[in-house]
Amino acid sequence: MTSNPKTDTHAKPDALPKRKRIYLIDAKTDRLKTVASALGRVYTVRTFSDGGAALDAMYKSPPNLVLIDEATLSKRGQGIHKTKTRDNLLKFIPFIILSNLTEGPLMIGDGAGAPDHYLKRPFSSNRLLEQISSCLSHAVERSWKKLPKTAQQTLKYTMDEFNKISDAIDSGQPIDLQTVGSSCHPLIESVKSNQYKDVLSGVRKHHNYTYVHSLRVATYLSLFGNAVGMQDDQMKILSVGGLLHDVGKIATPHHVLNKPDKLNEKEWGIMKGHVDHSKKILSSLPEVSESIRVIAEQHHEKIDGSGYPLGLKGKQLNELARMATIVDIFVALTDERSYKPAYPEDTAFSILETMGPGLDQRMVKSFREIIAN
Ligand SMILES: [Fe+2]
Ligand SMILES: [Fe+2]
Repeated sequence: MTSNPKTDTHAKPDALPKRKRIYLIDAKTDRLKTVASALGRVYTVRTFSDGGAALDAMYKSPPNLVLIDEATLSKRGQGIHKTKTRDNLLKFIPFIILSNLTEGPLMIGDGAGAPDHYLKRPFSSNRLLEQISSCLSHAVERSWKKLPKTAQQTLKYTMDEFNKISDAIDSGQPIDLQTVGSSCHPLIESVKSNQYKDVLSGVRKHHNYTYVHSLRVATYLSLFGNAVGMQDDQMKILSVGGLLHDVGKIATPHHVLNKPDKLNEKEWGIMKGHVDHSKKILSSLPEVSESIRVIAEQHHEKIDGSGYPLGLKGKQLNELARMATIVDIFVALTDERSYKPAYPEDTAFSILETMGPGLDQRMVKSFREIIAN
């Protein structure tokens, strides 16, 4: 099965965003090659078997993150880390120290720099990619302190909640829906007080893509609902439904979510499986409203029956599902990803319009007018 080239946001356009640079330092060259090949699918990687050469390279062309083997660090790379804690250029580069013994954050210096982190072997490439994404996001999260209070609270509360949701899914525990709802209060306030653009710009460069996408969907859905006069209970459904609509993607492997190239058939199947996964997660929560469930289960369905997973048609899709489908595609098209730049809003709307009877075109028109104002 292949995807529709018109709406496949995994298609590879000409101008791709610049990849983040990672320096990998390990005296054991076989291990160096294995880790480099796992990361090379997503990042630009430079490898060093010697700390001194890596330090020189860091000054000439600073990387976004450094991965260093603990034994290499203690033998020949210790100078790098000491220099890093004092140096105003290097201290903002996060280090992940690959260790045989330790896991967790490494607190050094005055805490003003990037957080360093120990990652214990053995680790899966997915775990490594998650840790890199978390370390790279630190600077973005720090920049939120400069935003107005409501936008700042929106980002902080929803990010904390998203981390809690990931932990709950990883440990097989239920999601606390009440706290998800509370985290969305400032989001609704941001929309009502017209501060949502600060939220959207604040989250744009974050590296947890599923969080970025989910918060953007929640924000645009709330904006859509507010503009068409929806009341508080429906605004809550739209914001929580937006935040949870792709909750099954939290379990989707990082290398599939962030693959720079077009997905193959197997990977596309894994990607589409997130809907069933979301359904399973939300079904285990009796307090989830039917409307929130519908947003998660139907946001890839199309009115003409061409969507997935069930190929539902026409009136089988209610108003919230139709809104969610439009917003989800709009957000995917205007997001920057490792495999595509962010399309301008006008281009995104042109694509939504070419999808004709697959979408509720009266809603597309209404959403376009809301975004234009
Ligand atoms: Fe989805
Ligand atoms: Fe989505």
